[in-house]
Amino acid sequence: MTGSLQEQLSRAFGDAFKAAGFESSLGAVFESARGDAPFQCNGAMAAAGALKKQGTKANPREIAQGIVEAVSGHDAVALLEIAGPGFINITPALDAVSARARALAVDPRIGARAPDRQKIVIDYGGANVAKPMHVGHLRSAVIGEALKRLLRYRGNEVIGDVHLGDWGLQMGHLITELHDEQPELPYFDADVTQGYPSDSPVTMDDLARLYPAASNKAKADPDRLERSRKATAELQAGREGYRALLDHFITVSIAALKKGYGALGVEFDLWKGEAAVDPLIPGMVETFKSQGITEEDDGALIIRVETDEDKKPVPPVFLISRSGAAQYHTTDLATLLDRKNEIDPDLILYVVDQRQALHFEQVFRAAVLADMYRPEQMNHLGFGTMNGKDGTPFKTREGGVLRLDDLLTMMNEAAMARLDEAGIGADFDAEERTEIARKVGLAALKFADLQNQRLTNYIFDPERFTAFEGKTGPYLLYAAVRIKSILRKAETLGVAAGEITISEPAETALVLALDSFDRALEAAARKYSPHILCDHIYTLAQAFSRFYADCPILQDGVADAVKSSRLALAETTLRQLEAGLDIIGVEVPERM
Ligand code: ARG
Repeated sequence: MTGSLQEQLSRAFGDAFKAAGFESSLGAVFESARGDAPFQCNGAMAAAGALKKQGTKANPREIAQGIVEAVSGHDAVALLEIAGPGFINITPALDAVSARARALAVDPRIGARAPDRQKIVIDYGGANVAKPMHVGHLRSAVIGEALKRLLRYRGNEVIGDVHLGDWGLQMGHLITELHDEQPELPYFDADVTQGYPSDSPVTMDDLARLYPAASNKAKADPDRLERSRKATAELQAGREGYRALLDHFITVSIAALKKGYGALGVEFDLWKGEAAVDPLIPGMVETFKSQGITEEDDGALIIRVETDEDKKPVPPVFLISRSGAAQYHTTDLATLLDRKNEIDPDLILYVVDQRQALHFEQVFRAAVLADMYRPEQMNHLGFGTMNGKDGTPFKTREGGVLRLDDLLTMMNEAAMARLDEAGIGADFDAEERTEIARKVGLAALKFADLQNQRLTNYIFDPERFTAFEGKTGPYLLYAAVRIKSILRKAETLGVAAGEITISEPAETALVLALDSFDRALEAAARKYSPHILCDHIYTLAQAFSRFYADCPILQDGVADAVKSSRLALAETTLRQLEAGLDIIGVEVPERM
C-alpha cells in the first residue's frame, strides 16, 4: 500500500467502479467537509447520471450499494456508509492509518513529493533604487519568497530576480540634485569620459535625502523637472559620467536593499534591474520593426496589442516615447529577451501589485506577437494592498511612505509586548528574548500576509498579528516550540520515539492532517496560493493541540510502547510544521 490514505482509497474505489462498468475516475475520494467520516466518494451520482444519458434508468443509492459491497473487504477501509442520494462516507482502517503514519515518520520529506521539473523565473521584490519601498514591495517580497520556496520544494528549478527599478526619472533627479550639491565632481564634466573614482560619492542616506529633495522641487517647478528629465535622457543616451554615477547609485542601493530584504529573510538569486537590459533595447526594437509589429504614432513607437475579443480597451505598448526615451514597457520586454537569452525559462512569474495588471497584459501580448514566448509562459500574480486602519494603503505614523526598518521595529515592539504579557521567556537573557521577539514579529507579519487569498486587501494590525491565540504566526511558533520542549523532556526521561500504533480518534485525526501535506503543497503550487499551505499548517497545529490534550505522551502510567508511538507522532508533526513554516519563510525559535 503506497501513497496517501486518500490515494489508497481512491484506487480501491476506482477499481470497484471499473469492475461495475464505469470510469475508474468516478472512484475519486475526497476529504469530507462534513464531520460524518474523514473521507467520502461521490461517484455514484455521476455514474447514475452517465447511465441516464444512455437512456438507462439508474438509482445512485443502488450503485453506491454495489460499490460499497465491492470495497468493503479492502485493507484500508474500516467502515462505509451510504448517505443522502448516494454519498459514500468512508472511515479508514486503523491498521492502514498506523501504516501510513509509520511511512510518514521515516520519510525525510514527511509525505511531500517533488514531481515538478520546470525552469521558472520569479520576478519579485521590485524595489526602486533611491525611492523608498512601499507596502506593494513588502507584499511582493513576502509572497514571492514563499512561492519561490514552494515551487522549489515541488522539484522545480526556480530563479528569483529582484528586478530593480533603476532606469527611470528618479535617476535624473539624483544626478541633478547631486550636481547642485557637489558641482565639482568629475561626473558632471562632459569633457571627462573615464577614470572616475571607484568610491561612491554618495551613501544610502545621501540617496534617501537627494531623491525626495529633487522630487519635491520638481513638483513645484517645471524647469527643475525638465532638468531631471534631460539628465535621464542623457543617461539613457549613454553619457559616461552619468553612467558611472548610476553604477554607484545601484551598488550603494543594492548593499542597503540586501540588508533590508535580508532582515525579512528574503534572498534573490539575481540582482538585475532595468538598467542591466538597456543595451538590448536598440537591437530588440530593430527586430520588432523587421517583424512588422511596430507602428509610428505621433512621433512615438508603439505596438498595438488590442484584439477584437477585448471587452475593455487595451492601450498599445509604448516602446519609445516622442522624446526618444525607453518606457516601463520597453525595459520589461528587454528583460523578457534577456531571460530568454540567459536562462530560457519554461515559465516567468511576476509577483507584482494587482494595480499593474494591465501593464503586464500589454507586455505579455507584445512578447507573444514578437514570438518570444507563448502566452502560458508568462503569468502576472497580482495581490491586494496592505491597508492602514483608515482603509488606505498603509503608511508609517508620520504619514510618510513605508520604511522597511520602521515596519520591522513596529513588529518587534508588538511581539515583545506580547512576550511580556504572556510571561514568555521571563528568565531568558536579553539577547535570547530579543531574538525570540524578532522571530515572533516576523512570523506574525508574514503569516498575516500569506494566509489571505493573494488578491484580497487586509488591514495592518500588529496587535492582532502577534496574538498567540487564533490563526496567527505566533500561534504556529508556539505549537512548534511546544513540541520541541516535549522532545527535550522525553530525552531527559530516556523515552525514545518508536513504532507508531494508532488507537485514539485524536491520533487518527492527527495522522490524517499529516497525510494531507502533499495535497496542500500541490494545490498551493498549482494555484500559486500560499494561503492553501498556511491553512494546512494551521490545521495541523490544531490537530496536534487536540491530540496532545487527549493523548498524554510522557505522563506516568502511559505504557512505554504508547509513549514511544506518540512521541514519534509528535516528532513527525514537528518536522512537517517546520518544513511548512520554512516554505512560507518563517523561522522557529528553539524555545519560548
Ligand atoms: N519597480 C516596479 C515598481 O516599483 C516593480 C517592478 C515589477 N517587475 C517588473 N518586471 N515590472 O512598481
